[in-house]
Amino acid sequence: MENEVRKKRILSGIQPSGDLTLGSYLGAIKNWAALADEYDCYYMLADMHTITVRQVPADLRRRTLTQVAAYIACGLDPEKNTLFVQSHVPAHAQLGWVLDCYTMFGELSRMTQFKDKSAKNADNINAGLFTYPSLMAADILLYQADLVPVGGDQKQHVEICRDIANRFNGIYGEVFKIPEPYIPPVGARVMSLTSPENKMSKSDKDQNGCVYMLEKPEDIMRKFKKAVTDSDACVRYDPAAKPGVSNLMQIYAVATGKTFQEIEQEFDGRGYGDFKTAVGESVVELLRPIREETERLLADKSYLESVYRAGAEKASRVAGRTLDKVYKKVGFLAR
Ligand code: TYM
Repeated sequence: MENEVRKKRILSGIQPSGDLTLGSYLGAIKNWAALADEYDCYYMLADMHTITVRQVPADLRRRTLTQVAAYIACGLDPEKNTLFVQSHVPAHAQLGWVLDCYTMFGELSRMTQFKDKSAKNADNINAGLFTYPSLMAADILLYQADLVPVGGDQKQHVEICRDIANRFNGIYGEVFKIPEPYIPPVGARVMSLTSPENKMSKSDKDQNGCVYMLEKPEDIMRKFKKAVTDSDACVRYDPAAKPGVSNLMQIYAVATGKTFQEIEQEFDGRGYGDFKTAVGESVVELLRPIREETERLLADKSYLESVYRAGAEKASRVAGRTLDKVYKKVGFLAR
């Protein structure tokens, strides 16, 4: 009899460095739930990455637990997906160190996220911030992931992960599967509502530019009504000339499933006021069930605990196999 073919694997993660944003939802989580039947999926809470920027410990703990609840509320059934906290699986730190030794100073220096974050945190340009991509490579390679579903801003990190894996395989043979990024065609780069030339980001100082997944409907509506547009009062998709309007169209397209052409027709001859209200309402409705379910789940801490404990156990088994192989390859004496 033929051996059962292993399902392809997926790994992705989000940092609990701030409250989850509409950007992380549209660019990443929204696309995850549908993958569970076809793939063996691992989704982590990247808390180890989060401390590259200084955190208030109690807030980090609260956000991590909320994020577990939000993952489930977004449709990630823990029976079908492995949900775990990165720091609960020590193999991430262990492989991260090994990969640090196979990652070049020059390649890390070219990372856009390192340059951005060191500019924003000039008083704390720590070594972890610099070697962040080799820890992220460890996250992915430990699970021999085939596919990494992320927003456009993480593409460079998946590329360096491929480079590190190829370098390692070149020396030691086929140790790591080379992963592919999976970036959604629409929603891969949700921009700030107040400065549409910048990515919507949980670390943005301007709270009006960023919509949070668990925010109250009235706050979401207020932010959309204030969103920056332009002066020609025409709903048309043109990211270069009309970044604000095009960003809102993108959000509306993902929230409603409509094409850009359908949206242009829907708002033909109507003002931006109507348009912004419609986009806001579509987002409120998209997020309402997620917020309600997250709140319900947060009331049951022991259930959430059982989910992330079981997740860490399963993840540790899979990750441990890769780590053993790597330790042997590099010449560590077996315990
Ligand atoms: P993070 O926490 O910054 O973002 C989480 C996910 O959301 C996507 N995203 C966006 N997509 C579209 N528009 C936006 N404005 C937007 N903002 C965020 C991100 O692309 C990402 O997919 N380094 C990662 C976390 C990580 C990881 C990993 C990801 C750690 N290890 C291994 C994949 C595989 C990060 O900081 O994402």
